[in-house]
Amino acid sequence: MDEQNLSTDHVRLAVIQQLEGLRRAGVTHWKRIDPIEPSKSVVTPQAPTQKSVPQAPTGNLTEKSSSTTVSAVAANIDSQSRRPFELESSPLAKKKIAPLPIIPNQFQPLDLPLADRIAGLAALAERVKSCTRCQELASTRTQTVFGVGNPEAKIVFVGEAPGADEDAQGEPFVGRAGQLLNDIIKACRIRREDLYICNVLRCRPPGNRLPAPDEAANCREFLDGQLAHVNPEYIVCWGACAAQNLLGSTETIGKLRRQFFTYGRAKVLCTYHPAYLMRNPAAKKDVWEDMKMLFLDMGIDLTAKTK
Ligand code: URA
Repeated sequence: MDEQNLSTDHVRLAVIQQLEGLRRAGVTHWKRIDPIEPSKSVVTPQAPTQKSVPQAPTGNLTEKSSSTTVSAVAANIDSQSRRPFELESSPLAKKKIAPLPIIPNQFQPLDLPLADRIAGLAALAERVKSCTRCQELASTRTQTVFGVGNPEAKIVFVGEAPGADEDAQGEPFVGRAGQLLNDIIKACRIRREDLYICNVLRCRPPGNRLPAPDEAANCREFLDGQLAHVNPEYIVCWGACAAQNLLGSTETIGKLRRQFFTYGRAKVLCTYHPAYLMRNPAAKKDVWEDMKMLFLDMGIDLTAKTK
């Protein structure tokens, strides 16, 4: 029975994560399927799977008359049992089996042709330009800083938030930290244009303060939208803010580095922020170790001699 409860918990958690991801991708309603009387039932009702779930909002999904909200479905699943997040009281905790990593958000890979990626990202950038979800940021920014790079990049870099230089120029990582990031990119023998670069926030926090949790939450739809369109194989989180926000973790960056996590279909590697490296140059060797690990996973040995 415990085994069964255990797998039910896993399925429940996976379904909630999937629904949460859909909600963040903009899907607000779910087509209602009328209950089938047991005697007439020909198929076993199934939880939505990655394949059967639409990847983007469609007309059907937003028709209120025949639909129920994604949040309501998630809440319903959640309320049918213990909350899976309360691991203390779950059989997982009792059995001392490591729980599934809890990732609060997921991007839904869109796997689009290039033209659609460009159009989708441009549409998202337009929405960001007029975004006023965070009143303080919207009223103090010079402009929004959406993201730059290759819409078909294999690797997406995620930083914290625009600083003064980025706010002035409208592009991420163009200030001093950006110069160091460029050096790291060069050392990895790739070009900045090969990557896609964005941040947890698309507006500069005044005084370069840390992004507040509600600001990160407000901007998450845009980050997930960018990830969904670019659909990278790898995500590098630069610094604790990016790592903790993306993975929904409170661990230190020191603990999060040196291992791969998954987010959507991407492998995630976390490392120190370039601004931290400027204050602590001794940590550059750690970032180099992380880069070697990332590229080795792609089959590239960064220590190999070049001709
Ligand atoms: N630091 C970041 O995290 N992002 C930028 O875009 C610039 C500096």
